[in-house]
Amino acid sequence: MATAPEHFAALPEVAIRSMAEADVPAVVEIELASYRFPWSEGIFRDCLRVGYVCRVVAHFDTVAGYGIVSAGAGEAHILNLCVRPELRCRGIGTLVLEDLLQRAAAAGVEIAYLEVRPSNTAAIRLYQSFEFEHIGSRRGYYQAPDGREDAAVFKLALRSRRAGHD
Ligand SMILES: CC(C)(COP(=O)(O)OP(=O)(O)OC[C@H]1O[C@@H](n2cnc3c(N)ncnc32)[C@H](O)[C@@H]1OP(=O)(O)O)[C@@H](O)C(=O)NCCC(=O)NCCS
Repeated sequence: MATAPEHFAALPEVAIRSMAEADVPAVVEIELASYRFPWSEGIFRDCLRVGYVCRVVAHFDTVAGYGIVSAGAGEAHILNLCVRPELRCRGIGTLVLEDLLQRAAAAGVEIAYLEVRPSNTAAIRLYQSFEFEHIGSRRGYYQAPDGREDAAVFKLALRSRRAGHD
């Protein structure tokens, strides 16, 4: 199972916490720098309003990364996971994903799902390091420059994490 601590020798000054409304501008800045088809500010505000688990990693007074998961009926859906470009490959993505999964498990979720572009090698390697399993694809799920792009769908059983919270 993936763990974060060994990465943090290089980046000790990070703390993970709930996203606040005041974080949204910094989150949107990272989103715009990271995706060709980014979420709007309104989508992040909606995620906070409806009560999704929205987490940020703070690095001094900046936001270094964020993750959002919706959970219900025993299932969690990882909706977004993103790290500030200049702070990638230091374990922050791992930290956020582990936090999201632990929170979902603590809320009674048994299975986590996510979609990812098949071309997104960095994210797929991260998910595979958590033992997410590729279970199929959703046709035309993503916007693409020339139309739509399929999504790869991954799933992870959370039983082991749940045991840690009983
Ligand atoms: C995917 C993403 C969140 C990873 O964040 P990160 O902080 O760089 O990830 P970590 O440092 O925790 O890396 C964990 C593992 O992911 C994989 N990984 C991360 N970046 C990688 C890269 N550029 N190439 C290949 N593998 C990579 C590796 O397996 C790595 O483990 P290792 O360090 O032992 O090799 C980050 O690249 C990102 O924000 N991408 C843009 C947004 C995005 O695509 N999000 C996913 C949407 S589905």
